[in-house]
Amino acid sequence: SPSDPDLVERARAAKEKLGDKVFVLGHHYQRDEVIQFADVTGDSFKLARDAAARPEAEYIVFCGVHFMAESADILTGDDQKVVLPDLAAGCSMADMATAEQVAECWDVLTEAGIAEQVIPVSYMNSSADIKAFTGKHGGTICTSSNAKRALEWAFEQGDKVLFLPDQHLGRNTAVRDMGMSLEDCVVYNPHRPNGGLTAEQLRDAKMILWRGHCSVHGRFSLESVEDVRARIPGVNVLVHPECKHEVVAAADYVGSTEHIIKTLEAAPAGSKWAIGTELNLVRRLANRFTPEGKEIVFLDKTVCFCSTMNRIDLPHLVWALESLAEGNLVNRIEVDRETEQFAKLALERMLALP
Ligand code: 13P
Ligand code: SF4
Repeated sequence: SPSDPDLVERARAAKEKLGDKVFVLGHHYQRDEVIQFADVTGDSFKLARDAAARPEAEYIVFCGVHFMAESADILTGDDQKVVLPDLAAGCSMADMATAEQVAECWDVLTEAGIAEQVIPVSYMNSSADIKAFTGKHGGTICTSSNAKRALEWAFEQGDKVLFLPDQHLGRNTAVRDMGMSLEDCVVYNPHRPNGGLTAEQLRDAKMILWRGHCSVHGRFSLESVEDVRARIPGVNVLVHPECKHEVVAAADYVGSTEHIIKTLEAAPAGSKWAIGTELNLVRRLANRFTPEGKEIVFLDKTVCFCSTMNRIDLPHLVWALESLAEGNLVNRIEVDRETEQFAKLALERMLALP
């Protein structure tokens, strides 16, 4: 739907008034009405890398979800203030691993006598507390665009990985990119005693996958892949690695949001694509590439927007920008110093991956 012209004008005016004082970052899953005001758009890796690109900007308005804003705060100077236009923009996957649960898991690994061999690898989609745990225990952060390199690095440091909190990204990367088998992976369920695993299962595993998932990508099914192949002969199926293993195994291409965009940019006219990721991005891609003769469909019509990404809408963005333009710092995301110190260690390990 087209954005309200009055709100568009207000956002534009507030941004102009702020000038170089504000830097607006937008994740690819954001609404069109919001993304039009982003100075930089990207996947979660690119946004983490670029967060510190404008040290002169006093405010970083993060159009994305809470863990991304926390990461931006960790990676930028103390004098830069990160603002999340709606504080309720969280991530259900990140909420699936709490600091208490992960500390308990580490006790279980210690009891089983394997903690010293285990390197934690945590997906960007986790709280600052989980990132700090990761840094403290010699691990790294990864995103969907560097998960393979993160696992390669981790297996040089130890012989087991605790992968938090997305079991699907962990499993898909281990099996697709690292040549492991499904039997090398076990799932740690934080709601069961000892994660629902025996000490023997833990000792035999190479990948200990946290039982977390994305509620949006978890809804794509093998059936949706089979249906689209039957409906559109010659279609290329391109999905995000947060999808279930059976979906990723049946797809032709797999990658982060940035990778999905790059793949479609390079695709020839006349090619057909079914995309398995969040709907704002797929719609934007269809609008952009259809005039170039590329056919782009959504992999499964029952899957929809990420409801928390969608919380950042134009009214919230206007409110945040106008507040900042009037000198009111609203919705600041600030990670405490101790957490920041260890979380930064883990994030910097990711940024230094080859
Ligand atoms: P990427 O943009 O890194 O592919 O991540 C997708 C996602 O789910 C962010 O929440
Ligand atoms: Fe979290 Fe999934 Fe939404 Fe990404 S798409 S923010 S992983 S719930």
